[in-house]
Amino acid sequence: MRIDILTVLPEIFESPLGCSILKRAADKGLVEYAIHNIRDYTTDRHHKVDDYPFGGEAGMVMKIEPVDRCISALKEQRHYDDVIFTTPDGEILNQSVANTLSLDENIIILCGHYKGVDYRIREHLVTREISIGDYVLTGGEMPAIIIADAIVRLIPGAIGDEQSALSDSFQDNLLAPPVYTRPADYKGWKVPDILLSGHEAKIDQWKHEQSVERTRRLRPGLLDE
Ligand code: ADE
Repeated sequence: MRIDILTVLPEIFESPLGCSILKRAADKGLVEYAIHNIRDYTTDRHHKVDDYPFGGEAGMVMKIEPVDRCISALKEQRHYDDVIFTTPDGEILNQSVANTLSLDENIIILCGHYKGVDYRIREHLVTREISIGDYVLTGGEMPAIIIADAIVRLIPGAIGDEQSALSDSFQDNLLAPPVYTRPADYKGWKVPDILLSGHEAKIDQWKHEQSVERTRRLRPGLLDE
């Protein structure tokens, strides 16, 4: 998979994509990241990426020309399955959206900024609009990192034990059961006896019951989906 990210703040991506699982996935050749500074696609002397909105509202609007130029240059090189725009009024990111996107071969993520982007970008260039939740951030960079993280860890081989992506919370609309490690007794705080019993079938049943109980208590809406 290849993920091209279009941003006015390319430096934000260095650390999140440059360590841990996201880096290892790139090192293994499972994913390639390419960060593009939208400013590099301006043609005017001042490298303007934003301008005043028509109609006189407050705030600046991201201009269409540099974004279109960048996307067109990329599309000349390869096919893209999706051009994603990060925006608080988009479809909410959830595990099912991440699963779908992880099947894409190449995607572009355009990071929103300022007051918004010229709406023609959304009308003509973008195929999917994604929000990471009902709150407003200063820009779409952090959402782009979160989307990339949610997708990349699902690529087979990205995390050591493939089982563990499948048994994540949300994969079957259930929260994951609690996990414990040694010591079995810490300050009198004990690991549930069943997990030390060695009885695999009973342990599996306990885990499932815990998942259902935690989901009912913490996120009952998931059970209706
Ligand atoms: N840009 C600003 N806030 C956002 C959000 N919640 N999701 C996606 N993009 C955003």
